[in-house]
Amino acid sequence: MNLYERIPNNVNLSEDRKLQRALEKWLPNYLDWWQEMGPDGFQQKDVYLRTAISVEPDGWANFDFVKMPDYRWGIFLKPAEADAKIGFGDNYGQPAYQEVPGEFRNSLRRIIVTQGDTEPASVEQQRQLGKTCPSLYDLRNLFQVNVEEGRHLWAMVYLLQRYFGRDGRDEADALLERRSGNPDKPRILEAFNQPCDDWLNFFCFTMFTDRDGKYQLSALAESGFEPLARTCQFMLTEEAHHMFVGDTGLNRVVKRTAQLMKKGDVRELGAIPLDIIQKHINFWFSYSLDLFGGEISSNSADFFAAGLKGRYKEQEQYQEHILAEQNFTMKVVAEGQLKDREVPLRNALNEVLRGEYVRDCEKGLARWNKTLADEGIGEQLFLPSTRFHRHLGEYAGHHFDIEGNLITAEVFERRKAEWLPTMEDREYVRSLMHPVVEPGKIANWIAPPATGIKGKPFEFEYVRL
Ligand SMILES: [Fe+2]
Ligand SMILES: [Fe+2]
Repeated sequence: MNLYERIPNNVNLSEDRKLQRALEKWLPNYLDWWQEMGPDGFQQKDVYLRTAISVEPDGWANFDFVKMPDYRWGIFLKPAEADAKIGFGDNYGQPAYQEVPGEFRNSLRRIIVTQGDTEPASVEQQRQLGKTCPSLYDLRNLFQVNVEEGRHLWAMVYLLQRYFGRDGRDEADALLERRSGNPDKPRILEAFNQPCDDWLNFFCFTMFTDRDGKYQLSALAESGFEPLARTCQFMLTEEAHHMFVGDTGLNRVVKRTAQLMKKGDVRELGAIPLDIIQKHINFWFSYSLDLFGGEISSNSADFFAAGLKGRYKEQEQYQEHILAEQNFTMKVVAEGQLKDREVPLRNALNEVLRGEYVRDCEKGLARWNKTLADEGIGEQLFLPSTRFHRHLGEYAGHHFDIEGNLITAEVFERRKAEWLPTMEDREYVRSLMHPVVEPGKIANWIAPPATGIKGKPFEFEYVRL
């Protein structure tokens, strides 16, 4: 097997024998994992996919028909800048790390493994969705997301194998051994163990959970560990499409619902009522908020001090990059009440990043609400309070209503069916999920997209079945 021809890369793979050997061992296991846990079915079908074959503007998005197992999962880092510097923290202005500094080895490995684990996890969560696709266009988008999450796993595995020696190789193997939702060997983060087995969940996942990925990758794209920064910078170009799938997917669901609301009972007409869409937003938004970590975090302070993980657009939107003196005020629960608490800013950086994320999500909500308004519907969708339904951080272990008011466990139990998808809601959504695979046709519960992929019309045969 000629690895460096099989694996497009800009990391000089052909000259790095040690890395080649590590990848030679890992690649067949990866392909086994893809067959076992990647999309169920469709593996021998031609799919109109985008493949990155270089990092140049004309090379990172090559469109052609490919069978998924033949997808060329490459290793790409944004090209290095001459004399890069650490952009924040205690070592601000020092030369960037080109190798892993011994004292930060464990922290960096943990950051990379945690990010890396989410990539195959999402492929596992989505593996049954092809069978109920609402159109060939959507089927192709699902598979595009899946193969790119596979490539993101490669990106993290490259870092582990290249920079972390034997430990890194063990971690790379373990990334193929954990399984989403498996109680014995679950994925690391909870949102990645939740089932994602219908298309409403899929669009919510790509809208809200992939968007967490955007913010994590953006914070790591600032890293003083240069190989990590450059890897994440390139991953972000792909991540944008995943969020597009979620954002526009939900918009199309909302549009169809609005159209049918004007004709009669949405359920009788076979679409998804707005209250069920709202409950799914509440569910995935709250789980995705947990991914940012605790509101008050010594890890966030340590990672920032060490120059490993910065803020969103650290260089672009801030002048001050040390943050040794500032404080941040947030609401916490104390003596049974919500109270303001001031903490050192470095300890609040998870919350700062979460705030950026929430503002970004709000833009999606504004787009969907505009769709509702354009269709003449007065109702609006919204984001729940960031305190609602949290399993991690300051608000975990307490109960809040959808507006963020502290309530008792009894009240939460009594009212949670108003806020979160019930078993019946999920079953109803599932009852709508039947495959539509004729070119140009679409399921009844979703509107067609405004445009197709890469200038092709919606009617294009994106997957040859
Ligand atoms: Fe990803
Ligand atoms: Fe993604």
